[in-house]
Amino acid sequence: MLDQQYEVLSRVPPQTPVSSATKVKGMESSVSKVSSQPSTQGNPKLRVQGFNFFYGPVQSLFKIDLDIPEHQVTAFIGPSGCGKSTLLRCMNRLNDLIEGARYEGNILLDDVDIFNPLIDITDLRKRVGMVFQKSNPFPKSIHENVAYGPRLQGLKNRGVLDEIVERSLRGAGLWEEVKDRLHKSALGLSGGQQQRLCIARALAVKPDVLLMDEPCSALDPIATGVIEELLFSLKKELTVVIVTHNMQQAARVSDQTAFMYLGQLVEFGRTKQLFTNPSKKQTEDYITGRFG
Ligand SMILES: Nc1ncnc2c1ncn2[C@@H]1O[C@H](COP(=O)(O)OP(=O)(O)OP(=O)(O)O)[C@@H](O)[C@H]1O
Ligand SMILES: [Mg+2]
Repeated sequence: MLDQQYEVLSRVPPQTPVSSATKVKGMESSVSKVSSQPSTQGNPKLRVQGFNFFYGPVQSLFKIDLDIPEHQVTAFIGPSGCGKSTLLRCMNRLNDLIEGARYEGNILLDDVDIFNPLIDITDLRKRVGMVFQKSNPFPKSIHENVAYGPRLQGLKNRGVLDEIVERSLRGAGLWEEVKDRLHKSALGLSGGQQQRLCIARALAVKPDVLLMDEPCSALDPIATGVIEELLFSLKKELTVVIVTHNMQQAARVSDQTAFMYLGQLVEFGRTKQLFTNPSKKQTEDYITGRFG
């Protein structure tokens, strides 16, 4: 019974609004059946350990501990301002650019400390790619957008670049739509196509991890569905971390979910378990729409 209700929640098409009645109903009858599931599964790709983060004098993350499993999709959920983007940006050190920002604790990628002074930051960002909420294609051709990263790494061979561009556009589910206009401006693409182009651009450098900060929030339900489908195939190749405000999206696409509140990690576990049998009252209140 519980499993059936969870299946319904996680399969609701993107355009269907979530009523809190549906969510509460799904939660109520869920309690006892899934509690024996392990909290997470899979080898950790990224490990966040005792992590605190400060913007100047203001602390935004508090003692975060979590392991992001390899070849899975991990979702971060939580109310606005709880620190989801901050934590995501720490994973490829984008917050380094912010004056006065500092951290305590560790983040390990394949057991190597990403803050080690010997780490080459360009290499880190190649291995841990990022896709933002608002698609940000360069004012260049579609081909040049995707070839940008490999070119920056010194790749010049036209044939190899063409292959990478095709592979990446296929990986992002965009190839068929753009293969006849590769040398036209990327700015002529629709919003959903531009977002997939940004995914292709990130894939072109063969990252191990793809960080996605609300990648569908500016997209219509059809484009959202296309990107969600993509995640299922992408995770075979890499590890995905996605921030979303959309509970159903988290339920549909992720294997693990982390619920954050006021800079703290309140609960982290298998998505099904977290949505059907949360162990913390705050999580239950959030996913049933009682706050946030
Ligand atoms: N560049 C910055 N300088 C100072 N404070 C910041 C900066 N960026 C974020 N913050 C603060 O850090 C806290 C966490 O912000 P963050 O953007 O990580 O939240 P979020 O969970 O991603 O929110 P949202 O869902 O609205 O995107 C907030 O209090 C925010 O005001
Ligand atoms: Mg954010």
